[in-house]
Amino acid sequence: MLKDYLKEKKEIVEKNLQKKLQNYKFPNKLSEAMNYAVMNGGKRLRPILMYMMCDLFHKSYESVEDIATALEFIHCYSLVHDDLPAMDNDMYRRGKLTTHIKYNEPVAILVGDVLLTEAFNIATHSKKINDKNKVKIISKLSEYSGFYGMVGGQFEDVEMERRLKDKTENNVNLSEHIEKNKKMLEYIHAHKTGKLLTAAIELPLIALEVEEPKKEKLVEYSKLIGLAFQIKDDILDIEGDFINTGKKSNDIENGKITYPSLFGLNKSKEMLNECLNKASKIIEDNFGGNKLLLELTQYFGNREK
Ligand code: IPE
Ligand code: IPE
Ligand code: MG
Ligand code: MG
Ligand code: MG
Repeated sequence: MLKDYLKEKKEIVEKNLQKKLQNYKFPNKLSEAMNYAVMNGGKRLRPILMYMMCDLFHKSYESVEDIATALEFIHCYSLVHDDLPAMDNDMYRRGKLTTHIKYNEPVAILVGDVLLTEAFNIATHSKKINDKNKVKIISKLSEYSGFYGMVGGQFEDVEMERRLKDKTENNVNLSEHIEKNKKMLEYIHAHKTGKLLTAAIELPLIALEVEEPKKEKLVEYSKLIGLAFQIKDDILDIEGDFINTGKKSNDIENGKITYPSLFGLNKSKEMLNECLNKASKIIEDNFGGNKLLLELTQYFGNREK
């Protein structure tokens, strides 16, 4: 059931992405590179989550279509910049060459910049949300993408990598700092990955004017699946294969602290399941055990790509 749902919604998401991308004509090469960075086989989970929220409350998709495109633009920008040599220095993304390898670094930097900026342009011009809600949505979208959101998390991710390199070079014993590292890692995951997943759940709830207590429960749910999503991503960087993930991770070469590097694979899997069990409980206790959301929660633990 979930598999068919994801496939069906992915088609809608991609049709809308394509429609917006067609508006960008000159400079042609910038437009081509934007297309390359967006239309390249992503799972589209964030926009799909937005549609799921509409289904949960039996509402039409109209009001979330543009913000779904905007959020996927921001997600794609975050990936293009994340892959740059100055950050994770990765060659593959979604099974294809990363944008800076396919083109060059200045193009990749500008593709990221333009996707971020145009995301807000698209949200601003959406005709399907009233102005009051639109302002709330744009404010939340900028919060979750910026200093207190994804960028803050990415910043600490690369800073921590740098600090660890210094310490290793100076023979500091890292296992002594496990508690501190755990706290830092939780912050990093909650921000670099969690915040855009919270956006995927909270933004449609604003557009649909869902009552506050229900919204709060779903935001809590989004935080749990956000952390779970990144723990699973770290696990897949070790256990996954390129055919499925489309990535060849440099986490180990970069000396990155991840859940598996700090706790080992088994304990990481336990922690992942703990998050997902808590998330499922929220759905069971507050949303009548909605089947689709429960299946999605499980999928966050057993996905292979
Ligand atoms: C990858 O996100 C980056 C993380 C936040 C872990 P996704 O796994 O959703 O990537 P795509 O969009 O499907 O390629
Ligand atoms: C990236 O985390 C999260 C972003 C905000 C892009 P990762 O660096 O682990 O993501 P992948 O493994 O490159 O997709
Ligand atoms: Mg990274
Ligand atoms: Mg990366
Ligand atoms: Mg990763």
